[in-house]
Amino acid sequence: MNVLRNGRIIDSKEAVISAFDHGFLYGMGLFETFRTYDGQPWLLERHAARLADSCRLLGISYEPDAERMREGVARLLAASGLEDAYIRWSVSAGEGAVGLPTGPYETPTEIVYAKELAPDRPDNRSAKTLRLLHLRRSSTEGEIRLKSFHYMNNILAKRELAEGGAGPGAEGLFLDAAGNVCEGIVSNVFWLSDGVLHTPSTAAGPLPGITREYLMELAASSGYPVKEGLYPFEDLLRADEVFLTNSIQEIVPVTTLEDDRGLTVSRYASAEANSVTRQWMERYRRAAEGSLER
Ligand SMILES: Cc1ncc(COP(=O)(O)O)c(C=O)c1O
Repeated sequence: MNVLRNGRIIDSKEAVISAFDHGFLYGMGLFETFRTYDGQPWLLERHAARLADSCRLLGISYEPDAERMREGVARLLAASGLEDAYIRWSVSAGEGAVGLPTGPYETPTEIVYAKELAPDRPDNRSAKTLRLLHLRRSSTEGEIRLKSFHYMNNILAKRELAEGGAGPGAEGLFLDAAGNVCEGIVSNVFWLSDGVLHTPSTAAGPLPGITREYLMELAASSGYPVKEGLYPFEDLLRADEVFLTNSIQEIVPVTTLEDDRGLTVSRYASAEANSVTRQWMERYRRAAEGSLER
């Protein structure tokens, strides 16, 4: 398998990180996951901007340049014999002395890998079960959640689902420490109630997802009211449709909501062809394939 390290294609066996890299020692690293359509990374400028802002916040001297990223992805796809793929673009802080530094990280390491994607279309995408997690979402390290190397809370949540016998492909739903709906283990959550699209505000601690942002703009531009706020779990019980978003899976309908013991507490018909969710799933894919915006 090939990876891109600091702009060079190398064999993954050589893609090693120093034992003194602060990504390894202290979790000081950031990543973006996105996918390509027809070989082109989708919403790349937005991923580059999120990465740039996050690097600035962590004092990592790394300026992602969307054009350089696009060219790197093209080389990696060609070297991997892939046309379309899942891309993970990681930036680790780089080597430093053991101990907590106050200054910036001047020599970060960039590692990019590509993985084949299973074929998927909105009209045959499986709906998911969403199960409330007993585990609460960790609070954010800084003001806003970053797509950082810290995924312990998410891995523990995934284990909770497996140990609780959740069905294959089920997503877990995190509440924040105060009990507000926060996000999925690897997704943002949305629901439709009385013709209004709702999603937790960043005050509840979800990752400000790129797909979340794009979808909110898409909904607003089609005249659909969008509300961000702090919402109790019970609001989901009354919702008409529920769906999840992330850059790889796009928009995924939820048909069953379970409590943290696995009991079904609500069912939604969001996979139906005429549902609002389904219309947005299709519009999102059309936009991605037409690459209206890259
Ligand atoms: C915890 C978490 N929330 C939300 C998302 C969705 O973010 P995006 O739309 O930027 O992929 C992800 C994506 O992996 C995630 O890991």
